[in-house]
Amino acid sequence: MLGVCYYPEHWPAEQWAKDARMMRELGLQYVRIGEFAWSRIEPRRGDFRFDWLDKAIDTLASEGLKIVFGTPTATPPKWLIDECPDILPVSVETGQTRGFGSRRHYDFSSEVYRCEAMAITEKLVKRYGQNPAIVGWQTDNELCCHDTTLSGSVSAKTGFQAWCAERYGSIDALNAAWGNVFWSMEYNDFSAIELPIQAVTETNPAHRLAFMRYSSDQVVAFHDQMVAIIRSHAPERWVTHNFIPRNDLYMDAYALGAPLDFASYDNYPLGRSDMMFKDAPAAMMQRYMRTGHPDLGCFYQDVVRSFSKGDYWVMEQQPGPVNWANHNPRPLPGMVRFWSLEAFALGAACVSYFRWRAAPFAQEQMHAGLLRSDDSKAAAWTDVVQVAQDIETLGLMSETKEQNSVAIITDIEALWVTDIQPQGQGYDYAKLEFAYYTAFRKLGVDVDFISKEHDFKGYRLIVSACLPIIGTEFTDKCKASEAHFIFGPRSASKTDEFSVPDSLAPGVLQSLVPTKVLSVETLRADCPERLYWGGRLYEASVWCEELSTDNIDIVATYDTGMAAIVRHEKVTYIGTVTDEAFLKDFMLEACIN
Ligand code: GAL
Repeated sequence: MLGVCYYPEHWPAEQWAKDARMMRELGLQYVRIGEFAWSRIEPRRGDFRFDWLDKAIDTLASEGLKIVFGTPTATPPKWLIDECPDILPVSVETGQTRGFGSRRHYDFSSEVYRCEAMAITEKLVKRYGQNPAIVGWQTDNELCCHDTTLSGSVSAKTGFQAWCAERYGSIDALNAAWGNVFWSMEYNDFSAIELPIQAVTETNPAHRLAFMRYSSDQVVAFHDQMVAIIRSHAPERWVTHNFIPRNDLYMDAYALGAPLDFASYDNYPLGRSDMMFKDAPAAMMQRYMRTGHPDLGCFYQDVVRSFSKGDYWVMEQQPGPVNWANHNPRPLPGMVRFWSLEAFALGAACVSYFRWRAAPFAQEQMHAGLLRSDDSKAAAWTDVVQVAQDIETLGLMSETKEQNSVAIITDIEALWVTDIQPQGQGYDYAKLEFAYYTAFRKLGVDVDFISKEHDFKGYRLIVSACLPIIGTEFTDKCKASEAHFIFGPRSASKTDEFSVPDSLAPGVLQSLVPTKVLSVETLRADCPERLYWGGRLYEASVWCEELSTDNIDIVATYDTGMAAIVRHEKVTYIGTVTDEAFLKDFMLEACIN
């Protein structure tokens, strides 16, 4: 199935009928509207203007298009911000209020905004929830985009204090859990707790982790409430959300995805490659700048599939140059077709292009659409014509993605913990996880991503690039599983409250693989250490652990002879960051055995 993102409020009403007809003729079935239109729906408090929206919906429906309605809460209008300026988020970097004039200018901790966002959602869903043309709802738009998960506002602080009171019960318990005796950081009361921002130097990592957990919970609570409102008035419609990549989301995507019928992803392979590989050698980007890195789009979509209940959607597909990366090249001819087919192969049920027509005004005027702003057909048009034919000829919609036999456990706490305590500039969890993933891709092995709570049944090999906080319920699950496990460095290295485990790292994993991390050194990525495995020479760099080796098999060693990788029965522990060649060879062996 194919769709498109459309903004009727950007165009004269006389143009809608022709647009709708052309959409149908192009072979599109779905059209997403509404997600930024609050100022046109309610230009002043309580002054609702539904006439234009009714007409737009009728016009699109008259061509048989199915409508996905996005709640407009990513863009609270100016009158609302003027009335309630406390809605605005506060930068955790600078302490400055982030102002009106773009989008996502709201704070997840603002109770006032919570009420306003739910009220406009309810108004819309009450009016359109039973409309036969509206087949599904998208919550908000790209939650947490533009670094909005964390806010340093007064509402965030009071919300965090209440959250801490609930989690720790007493202030003494909190002080003990965080180790606040260190540097005299002890609090006498929950109301005295600060946010871990804007301090003179590094704040307590346990405090920061708690703030990230709190902030993640706020996003989930906001979203859960919105989904519940949609469901109560549109019980027969599906609800989805268009996710940004997990690392930018910076909160628990599994929790966010839980109440949805399925998840959606916004796929911008060139923009994302340009950002992710900004420091890569020119030769690499020369090769990939117009195709995107071959593994990156799949990586994000494989992750999204893992928190989608059924088939996921690509809600926004890049159609040409975007406007927001450091550099914005044109895709090679045919790439839009390729990305669309790739998404179907990865398990997407629908690919929806962003956007129908390029906007000649405002922030995204340099962003391509299927049409140019003068209504001529842009380069992607012929690709979409071709994709519509491909769907027919290849019978694409009959594909169902089966469970793979290899899984990668992905974990938001790994990102938080390693960001909070990098210990060396080279360590980057996102890159390390991507390196593990690409090793399998290079071997032609499809993988599933799973959360640490996921059922391990059916998997033969389960890998994690880093899983810093786990409990005995996790290790019990590993023991009961028939899979082989490979854990990367820093796994089980922290307690739930960000301390070193009593038995040293890898804490509870020691019941599976009896080793201890005796010391850690971090190195420059360009100053590697030698790594010996299977009679071959590779590189270890960035993060090198010294592992104890009593009663355990030594799998690989550093130049010094010290163990870098150890194994006990079906569990392997990698104590370092290795080069890509090693990962590919090592994962090949793991897949074969
Ligand atoms: C997405 C966003 C869209 C649009 C697009 C441009 O991140 O959801 O509204 O801004 O990027 O590429």
